[in-house]
Amino acid sequence: MKKLFVKTYGCQMNAYDSARMADLLAPLGYGPADDAEGADMVILNTCHIRERAAEKVYSELGRLRQMKNEKAGMLIAVAGCVAQAEGEEILRRAPQVDLVVGPQTYHRLPEMIARIARDGGHAVEADFPALEKFDSLIETAATGSSAFLTVQEGCDKFCTFCVVPYTRGPEHSRPPEAVLAEACALAQKGAREIVLLGQNVNAYSGVAADGAHWSLARLCAALAGIEDIARIRYATSHPRDMADDLIAAHGENEKLMPYLHLPVQSGSDSVLAAMNRQHGADDYLRLIERIRAVRPDIALTSDFIVGFPGESDADFEATMALVREVKFAGAYSFKYSKRPGTPAAAAKKQVSEKVKDERLQALQALLLAQQDGFNDAQIGRTLPVLFEKPGRDRSQMVGRTPYLQPVHVEGDASLTGQVAQVRIAARTANSLKGRLI
Ligand code: SAH
Ligand code: SF4
Ligand code: F3S
Repeated sequence: MKKLFVKTYGCQMNAYDSARMADLLAPLGYGPADDAEGADMVILNTCHIRERAAEKVYSELGRLRQMKNEKAGMLIAVAGCVAQAEGEEILRRAPQVDLVVGPQTYHRLPEMIARIARDGGHAVEADFPALEKFDSLIETAATGSSAFLTVQEGCDKFCTFCVVPYTRGPEHSRPPEAVLAEACALAQKGAREIVLLGQNVNAYSGVAADGAHWSLARLCAALAGIEDIARIRYATSHPRDMADDLIAAHGENEKLMPYLHLPVQSGSDSVLAAMNRQHGADDYLRLIERIRAVRPDIALTSDFIVGFPGESDADFEATMALVREVKFAGAYSFKYSKRPGTPAAAAKKQVSEKVKDERLQALQALLLAQQDGFNDAQIGRTLPVLFEKPGRDRSQMVGRTPYLQPVHVEGDASLTGQVAQVRIAARTANSLKGRLI
């Protein structure tokens, strides 16, 4: 058995892709390895979203070069969004790399490996062959109780800070039948929760065999009909694509969890306009009102960028005001990072690193206080928890509440894949503690 180590950077879609690459290589005799040391093949599944993410790849490649010197025949592949963005350039900077494969072409890995075994040299594939990839993927061998399922890829929105439309290509939705078949297969292998993924998952519009266009809400309704699936989630959503039927689904579809990641990025109208987000701060607030009207307890999370070019103190204050008004259950926040080829990178009024640091600190302190508040509000409640795996302390099991909060309870592995009622007793820094009832 040959050993394959896949290192995943970036978003959940990369995590899904990493698992699919491992599935594709299993028939070639590759089994999973815990680290790169001694592996026959290493795949770095990379992220290009911020400068730091992209630079990490080259430092990791430096480390791998030494390992490769000690192990003849070791294959190094760069996959993901850096591969798509930089292509052949990677081979120039890191000639120890054997394969470069983009997010829409990794299904060709087996053929590429055969090609270099036969002809030597390198193989690079980084085009956008529409949905060919999904037709070529093979069924997964294993899954946990919560499984990712990519239903939509790519982005047509072109926010001025973002590389995703360039690295993942145009928006594409998989046909609903293919999604339902994959969900059934995952359920048969033990998945109780399906997390539907897409760069703009709520822009999902899958064309069924009869020609009908399915919205994400309709897809969720069909998934809810699969008996073994207890929970449905989706990520990531764009405020512009929160359709009426999807909002309504949060009040009607009992398997759709009360959790929504809806990035707003900024609370300032002028920054939102410069970002090309195509909505204002008020539009977002009104949207949140409508969602809370059908599902008052919903946990809302967001992404924020501070220090976008031209962001003034007043703009930043508007972001803080929006956060105070919404009260998020959690959020990711980032300092704006200039990305090559994106419009905002060329803007003259860049914000200094010092100001970005100060704003990030202030925003994160507020968001953390809100998150703690949301978690504290669960203490004393009894919540259904889907158990996933043992905790670091082996007498404990870890699961998730409907609001995606991790919960630790005393219990054994027989809980894996079960939804059980838990009384929430306390909050620690990053999770909740509870007792099985
Ligand atoms: N499709 C999602 C976001 C995908 S990228 C959406 O539209 O919301 C994930 C997050 O990375 C973004 O929400 C944004 O907050 C952050 N991000 C993207 N480009 C960035 C950049 N150039 N600098 C800093 N953060 C960035
Ligand atoms: Fe990037 Fe904007 Fe597309 Fe999200 S919607 S992936 S932030 S371009
Ligand atoms: Fe990163 Fe690509 Fe995802 S740039 S965030 S891995 S879509």
